[in-house]
Amino acid sequence: MTIWPKAVANGWHPVATLRELKRRKPLARMLMGKPIVVFSSPEGPAVLVDRCPHRNMALSQGKVRGGEIECAYHGWRFKGNGRCTHTPGVGEPARHAAEALPVIVRAGLVFTTLADKPNAGPVLPYPMEAEGFDSFLWPIKATRARLIDAVENLLDPAHPHFLHPGIVRSGTVRRPVEVTVRVKEDSAEAIYVENTRASALMPRMLEGKRTASVGRFSLPSTGQVAFENTKGLKLSITVFFVPEGPERVKPIAHLATQKGVIPPFIKELALRAFDMVILAQDQVALRRQAENIERFGGPKYAVGPLDVLFPAIQALAAGETPEPSERTLTLSL
Ligand code: FES
Ligand SMILES: [Fe+2]
Repeated sequence: MTIWPKAVANGWHPVATLRELKRRKPLARMLMGKPIVVFSSPEGPAVLVDRCPHRNMALSQGKVRGGEIECAYHGWRFKGNGRCTHTPGVGEPARHAAEALPVIVRAGLVFTTLADKPNAGPVLPYPMEAEGFDSFLWPIKATRARLIDAVENLLDPAHPHFLHPGIVRSGTVRRPVEVTVRVKEDSAEAIYVENTRASALMPRMLEGKRTASVGRFSLPSTGQVAFENTKGLKLSITVFFVPEGPERVKPIAHLATQKGVIPPFIKELALRAFDMVILAQDQVALRRQAENIERFGGPKYAVGPLDVLFPAIQALAAGETPEPSERTLTLSL
């Protein structure tokens, strides 16, 4: 069993969107190897450990009834705080409670934590919750991957030529790009300045004349890519990588675009269409990477000159506090 770095183990992770909860069915989720169930209670979204205290049935197999979750086996009912409210066949409900986890709702996401002493709450990077943006949430299917590999995949500028030729990077043309890498105690970012028109389809359509793109990592396991042009932030893709297990990651993405003349639903359709292709290519690569790591019994990483964020991500993900630093270099991307 993987020992999760402290920041991940004690961090807040989104386990559902409010929209997913509208379906009224309890949602079965995994968080760092712990099965949990998310459902909608009158007090708001509730997260319980997915085990009935009576006979170990998964509560997620049950039904949500009047804002309470009813176990599918003998019908015990539990409130969002875990208290048993009804035990069929007797007047008094059982005194055995289901285990409840803390919940914080922000930006349409239901966050929970497995920490014994939870910290203040989830960290939502800008521009989530900011004015002036059209945004949507996109819960993505879990994929086989180690957490660090999934995070790096989003932020890595070197693979698009090969994995997504013509979409994210041209596949043939490389251009000099000035990169500033900033490492802080709880985050790391790389700012790519490329004062030319992008060479590939997606950045061209979405950004016009791009001035900078940014890749950011912040604890516990959040990645963000943002694209700026002369008018400011155009598009940001923030991805919460939720560790379901040692080799299973469920990303939940938040996409935000600057408000403009194009209706939000058109932008959402376009972004989903593009990202769907990219996502599928990335997920295949991540799965194959995990399979090959398995063949060798563990990973081994070489750091190349284009891997500007990897050492910081690796250090932060391992629970180390890196020395704050800043450097600028020129790469061919
Ligand atoms: S196992 Fe849940 S009510 Fe019996
Ligand atoms: Fe990719």
